[in-house]
Amino acid sequence: MFMRVERCLAMVVLHCQVLIDADTDCGIRLPWGTTNPREITNAYPSFIQKILIGPSSEKRLIYVLKLFNGTASPKGAVWIDCGIHAREWIAPAFCQWFVQYLIDSQDTMITDILKSFEIYILPIWNVDGYEYTWTTDRFWRKNLSKHHRGQCRGTDLNRNWDASWCGPGASNNPCSQTYCGRHPESEPEVKAVATFIRQRSDHIKGYISIHSYSQMVMFPYSYKTSKSKDHKELNYIAQKAVTAVRSVHGTNYRYGNSATSIWEGRAQLPGAAEDRRA
Ligand SMILES: *[C@@H]1O[C@H](CO)[C@@H](O)[C@H](O)[C@H]1NC(C)=O
Ligand SMILES: *[C@@H]1O[C@H](CO)[C@@H](O)[C@H](O)[C@H]1NC(C)=O
Repeated sequence: MFMRVERCLAMVVLHCQVLIDADTDCGIRLPWGTTNPREITNAYPSFIQKILIGPSSEKRLIYVLKLFNGTASPKGAVWIDCGIHAREWIAPAFCQWFVQYLIDSQDTMITDILKSFEIYILPIWNVDGYEYTWTTDRFWRKNLSKHHRGQCRGTDLNRNWDASWCGPGASNNPCSQTYCGRHPESEPEVKAVATFIRQRSDHIKGYISIHSYSQMVMFPYSYKTSKSKDHKELNYIAQKAVTAVRSVHGTNYRYGNSATSIWEGRAQLPGAAEDRRA
């Protein structure tokens, strides 16, 4: 009985927790509490602003939410995105849940963060691919761009960044799951986010991208095995995150710079979003 995802997306992407419960009507089981569930930005106008960053290739709208709770100038911002890979449904669900969590939390750590930092959240990045996983192919990963040669569609948005673009670990074959696209940022979804972040590159202090599945905290580099200049700090933060996660339900996450520790040096991931600013 669930509404077509497309309709939910049109209602403002962010309000549908259609993601986990297949029998959920996106108008019913919403994570936004009771106020005005369809419009979180209307419900919490003083904390949340909705920013349109562009249409996808199929002209769906992609929105970023900006959360902030203060009058003073923010010290910086943190970016969090979900759903770059269409089939990873838990990721958009997480982003939506997290928005509500930030708003509801009474924990002073969270309220203090919201007073001094802006949080940008992109709940569903690959909007076309996401819709496609609901209507046509549950395990679709890429976007839905059409290519000149052949009948295969889609670019892996996480191989389309200007970071050692299309090196080992990506494919220039449009039929591949890791097709890198025609050139860096050829995909409108990647271009929209890259532009948004570039315009705020001094302001954004952290970039977090949520994927599934696996229990890993990965940080740059992905495309090469050498350590970034921030390796020690990133490693320290990842270790703290892993310890915090374990303290809740005992879940064990691995962590490390992705090209080396996580994949044991066997895999490199060129053109990935997380490397862009490393
Ligand atoms: C997918 O990639 C193509 C480029 O190959 C782009 O033109 C298109 O807009 C993208 N579509 C989506 C849904 O990302
Ligand atoms: C925003 O700040 C006010 C005043 O300090 C506080 O009462 C409120 O809980 C905060 N809201 C959020 C969402 O953090």
